Amino acid sequence: MARKPVAVLISGRGSNLQALIDAAREPSYPAEICRVISNVWDAAGLKRAEAAGIATSVVDHRAFANRAAFDAALDQALRADGIEIVCLAGFMRLLTADFVEGWRDRLINIHPSLLPAFPGLDTHARALAAGVRFTGCTVHFVRPVMDEGPIITQAAVPVLPGDDEPHLAARVLAAEHRAYPLALQLVASGRARVVRDRVEIDGADTPAGPFFNPLP
Ligand code: GRF
Repeated sequence: MARKPVAVLISGRGSNLQALIDAAREPSYPAEICRVISNVWDAAGLKRAEAAGIATSVVDHRAFANRAAFDAALDQALRADGIEIVCLAGFMRLLTADFVEGWRDRLINIHPSLLPAFPGLDTHARALAAGVRFTGCTVHFVRPVMDEGPIITQAAVPVLPGDDEPHLAARVLAAEHRAYPLALQLVASGRARVVRDRVEIDGADTPAGPFFNPLP
Protein backbone atom coordinates (compact mmCIF):
# COMPACT_ATOMS: atom_id res chain seq x y z
CA MET A 1 0.00 0.00 0.00
CA ALA A 2 1.28 3.49 -0.86
CA ARG A 3 2.51 5.44 2.12
CA LYS A 4 0.43 8.52 2.93
CA PRO A 5 2.30 11.81 2.45
CA VAL A 6 2.39 13.65 5.79
CA ALA A 7 3.46 17.14 6.84
CA VAL A 8 4.36 17.96 10.45
CA LEU A 9 3.84 21.51 11.74
CA ILE A 10 6.09 22.62 14.58
CA SER A 11 7.10 25.72 16.53
CA GLY A 12 9.91 24.43 18.75
CA ARG A 13 11.88 21.50 20.10
CA GLY A 14 10.38 18.84 17.84
CA SER A 15 10.74 15.75 20.02
CA ASN A 16 7.34 14.46 18.85
CA LEU A 17 8.41 15.19 15.28
CA GLN A 18 11.48 13.04 15.98
CA ALA A 19 9.30 10.19 17.23
CA LEU A 20 7.27 10.35 14.02
CA ILE A 21 10.43 10.49 11.87
CA ASP A 22 11.83 7.46 13.68
CA ALA A 23 8.60 5.46 13.30
CA ALA A 24 8.36 6.32 9.60
CA ARG A 25 11.86 4.91 8.98
CA GLU A 26 10.24 1.47 9.15
CA PRO A 27 9.34 0.58 5.52
CA SER A 28 6.03 -0.95 6.59
CA TYR A 29 4.92 2.24 8.37
CA PRO A 30 1.93 3.59 6.40
CA ALA A 31 2.99 7.26 6.43
CA GLU A 32 5.94 9.15 5.01
CA ILE A 33 7.00 12.49 6.53
CA CYS A 34 7.48 14.57 3.38
CA ARG A 35 7.60 18.09 4.77
CA VAL A 36 8.14 19.89 8.07
CA ILE A 37 6.83 23.44 8.37
CA SER A 38 7.66 25.78 11.23
CA ASN A 39 6.26 29.23 11.93
CA VAL A 40 9.49 30.02 13.83
CA TRP A 41 12.83 30.36 12.03
CA ASP A 42 15.00 28.91 14.77
CA ALA A 43 12.77 26.01 15.85
CA ALA A 44 15.10 23.19 16.89
CA GLY A 45 12.82 20.70 15.17
CA LEU A 46 13.87 22.07 11.77
CA LYS A 47 17.37 20.70 12.41
CA ARG A 48 15.93 17.29 13.22
CA ALA A 49 14.06 17.29 9.91
CA GLU A 50 17.15 18.39 7.97
CA ALA A 51 19.21 15.67 9.65
CA ALA A 52 16.65 13.14 8.46
CA GLY A 53 16.72 14.53 4.91
CA ILE A 54 13.17 15.87 5.09
CA ALA A 55 12.19 19.04 3.23
CA THR A 56 11.56 21.99 5.54
CA SER A 57 9.99 25.40 5.19
CA VAL A 58 9.25 28.33 7.44
CA VAL A 59 5.96 30.18 7.16
CA ASP A 60 6.47 33.09 9.55
CA HIS A 61 3.12 34.18 10.96
CA ARG A 62 4.48 37.69 11.54
CA ALA A 63 4.69 38.21 7.77
CA PHE A 64 0.90 38.01 7.41
CA ALA A 65 -1.76 40.60 8.14
CA ASN A 66 -4.03 38.18 9.97
CA ARG A 67 -4.61 34.52 10.85
CA ALA A 68 -6.68 33.88 7.73
CA ALA A 69 -3.82 34.99 5.47
CA PHE A 70 -1.27 32.91 7.40
CA ASP A 71 -3.50 29.84 7.28
CA ALA A 72 -4.11 30.33 3.55
CA ALA A 73 -0.35 30.31 2.95
CA LEU A 74 0.00 27.15 5.03
CA ASP A 75 -2.85 25.51 3.17
CA GLN A 76 -1.33 26.40 -0.19
CA ALA A 77 2.07 24.99 0.80
CA LEU A 78 0.53 21.73 2.01
CA ARG A 79 -1.58 21.26 -1.11
CA ALA A 80 1.37 22.13 -3.41
CA ASP A 81 3.22 19.20 -1.81
CA GLY A 82 0.29 16.80 -2.20
CA ILE A 83 0.10 16.31 1.57
CA GLU A 84 -2.75 14.08 2.75
CA ILE A 85 -2.35 14.17 6.54
CA VAL A 86 -1.16 17.08 8.69
CA CYS A 87 0.29 16.46 12.17
CA LEU A 88 0.52 19.32 14.66
CA ALA A 89 3.44 18.66 16.99
CA GLY A 90 4.01 21.55 19.36
CA PHE A 91 2.66 24.01 16.78
CA MET A 92 1.82 27.09 18.83
CA ARG A 93 -0.61 28.88 16.51
CA LEU A 94 -4.37 28.67 16.65
CA LEU A 95 -5.73 27.64 13.25
CA THR A 96 -8.83 29.24 11.74
CA ALA A 97 -12.05 27.26 11.38
CA ASP A 98 -11.69 27.50 7.58
CA PHE A 99 -8.30 25.81 7.67
CA VAL A 100 -9.45 23.17 10.15
CA GLU A 101 -12.56 22.34 8.14
CA GLY A 102 -10.48 22.15 4.96
CA TRP A 103 -8.43 19.39 6.58
CA ARG A 104 -11.26 17.76 8.48
CA ASP A 105 -10.33 14.28 9.73
CA ARG A 106 -6.89 14.67 8.14
CA LEU A 107 -5.48 17.08 10.74
CA ILE A 108 -4.25 15.65 14.05
CA ASN A 109 -2.78 17.10 17.21
CA ILE A 110 -1.04 15.89 20.34
CA HIS A 111 -1.88 17.42 23.69
CA PRO A 112 -0.13 16.70 27.01
CA SER A 113 -3.15 15.75 29.11
CA LEU A 114 -5.98 13.26 29.13
CA LEU A 115 -8.50 15.39 27.26
CA PRO A 116 -11.10 16.67 27.92
CA ALA A 117 -9.22 17.38 31.18
CA PHE A 118 -6.79 20.30 31.09
CA PRO A 119 -7.10 21.77 27.61
CA GLY A 120 -4.84 24.76 26.89
CA LEU A 121 -1.45 25.60 28.38
CA ASP A 122 0.36 24.62 31.61
CA THR A 123 -1.29 21.22 31.71
CA HIS A 124 1.21 19.61 34.10
CA ALA A 125 1.08 22.41 36.67
CA ARG A 126 -2.70 22.27 36.55
CA ALA A 127 -2.74 18.48 36.91
CA LEU A 128 -0.46 18.76 39.96
CA ALA A 129 -2.61 21.54 41.45
CA ALA A 130 -5.77 19.47 40.92
CA GLY A 131 -4.23 16.45 42.66
CA VAL A 132 -5.17 14.00 39.92
CA ARG A 133 -3.58 10.55 40.29
CA PHE A 134 -3.23 10.06 36.55
CA THR A 135 -2.60 12.39 33.67
CA GLY A 136 -1.20 11.59 30.24
CA CYS A 137 -1.51 12.58 26.64
CA THR A 138 -4.09 12.58 23.87
CA VAL A 139 -3.80 12.43 20.09
CA HIS A 140 -6.97 13.69 18.46
CA PHE A 141 -8.44 14.95 15.21
CA VAL A 142 -8.55 18.73 15.25
CA ARG A 143 -11.80 20.67 15.41
CA PRO A 144 -12.18 24.47 15.37
CA VAL A 145 -12.33 24.65 19.18
CA MET A 146 -8.82 24.30 20.63
CA ASP A 147 -7.98 20.87 22.11
CA GLU A 148 -11.34 19.43 21.14
CA GLY A 149 -11.97 16.67 18.64
CA PRO A 150 -12.34 12.91 18.23
CA ILE A 151 -9.74 11.02 20.27
CA ILE A 152 -7.46 8.60 18.40
CA THR A 153 -5.09 7.44 21.16
CA GLN A 154 -4.45 8.25 24.79
CA ALA A 155 -1.78 7.13 27.23
CA ALA A 156 -2.26 7.37 30.98
CA VAL A 157 0.70 8.33 33.15
CA PRO A 158 0.69 8.21 36.97
CA VAL A 159 1.34 11.30 39.05
CA LEU A 160 3.86 10.16 41.66
CA PRO A 161 4.32 11.39 45.22
CA GLY A 162 6.70 14.36 45.25
CA ASP A 163 6.32 14.98 41.53
CA ASP A 164 7.14 18.40 40.21
CA GLU A 165 6.34 19.86 36.82
CA PRO A 166 9.61 18.87 35.06
CA HIS A 167 9.46 15.25 36.26
CA LEU A 168 5.81 14.86 35.35
CA ALA A 169 6.35 16.57 31.98
CA ALA A 170 9.21 14.20 31.15
CA ARG A 171 7.12 11.15 32.05
CA VAL A 172 4.23 12.37 29.89
CA LEU A 173 6.57 13.25 27.02
CA ALA A 174 7.91 9.69 26.93
CA ALA A 175 4.31 8.51 26.56
CA GLU A 176 3.67 11.10 23.84
CA HIS A 177 6.53 9.65 21.82
CA ARG A 178 4.71 6.31 21.73
CA ALA A 179 1.16 7.60 21.39
CA TYR A 180 1.75 9.87 18.38
CA PRO A 181 3.38 7.30 16.08
CA LEU A 182 0.64 4.83 17.00
CA ALA A 183 -2.08 7.36 16.22
CA LEU A 184 -0.56 8.33 12.88
CA GLN A 185 -0.21 4.67 11.99
CA LEU A 186 -3.90 4.12 12.72
CA VAL A 187 -4.97 7.15 10.68
CA ALA A 188 -2.62 6.62 7.72
CA SER A 189 -3.53 2.95 7.40
CA GLY A 190 -7.23 3.83 7.40
CA ARG A 191 -7.89 1.81 10.56
CA ALA A 192 -8.99 4.88 12.52
CA ARG A 193 -12.18 6.41 11.13
CA VAL A 194 -14.42 9.12 12.49
CA VAL A 195 -17.96 7.87 12.99
CA ARG A 196 -20.48 10.31 14.53
CA ASP A 197 -17.55 12.42 15.77
CA ARG A 198 -15.86 9.60 17.65
CA VAL A 199 -12.99 7.48 16.39
CA GLU A 200 -13.62 3.83 15.62
CA ILE A 201 -10.62 1.57 15.15
CA ASP A 202 -11.03 -1.32 12.71
CA GLY A 203 -9.88 -4.61 14.12
CA ALA A 204 -9.44 -3.34 17.67
CA ASP A 205 -10.37 -5.64 20.51
CA THR A 206 -11.99 -2.99 22.65
CA PRO A 207 -14.34 -0.11 21.84
CA ALA A 208 -11.64 2.30 23.02
CA GLY A 209 -9.18 1.02 20.43
CA PRO A 210 -5.71 -0.40 20.88
CA PHE A 211 -4.49 -0.06 24.42
CA PHE A 212 -0.88 0.26 25.34
CA ASN A 213 0.70 0.64 28.72
CA PRO A 214 3.39 3.28 28.58
CA LEU A 215 4.88 2.18 31.91
CA PRO A 216 8.09 0.14 31.74
C1 GRF B 1 4.35 18.47 23.60
O1 GRF B 1 4.23 18.32 24.98
C2 GRF B 1 3.01 18.44 22.93
O2 GRF B 1 2.10 17.59 23.57
C3 GRF B 1 2.55 19.87 23.05
O3 GRF B 1 3.71 20.63 22.85
C4 GRF B 1 4.86 19.86 23.22
C5 GRF B 1 5.76 19.83 22.03
O4 GRF B 1 7.00 19.22 22.32
N1 GRF B 1 1.49 20.13 22.12
P1 GRF B 1 7.96 18.80 21.14
O5 GRF B 1 8.23 20.08 20.33
O6 GRF B 1 7.29 17.76 20.32
O7 GRF B 1 9.20 18.31 21.81
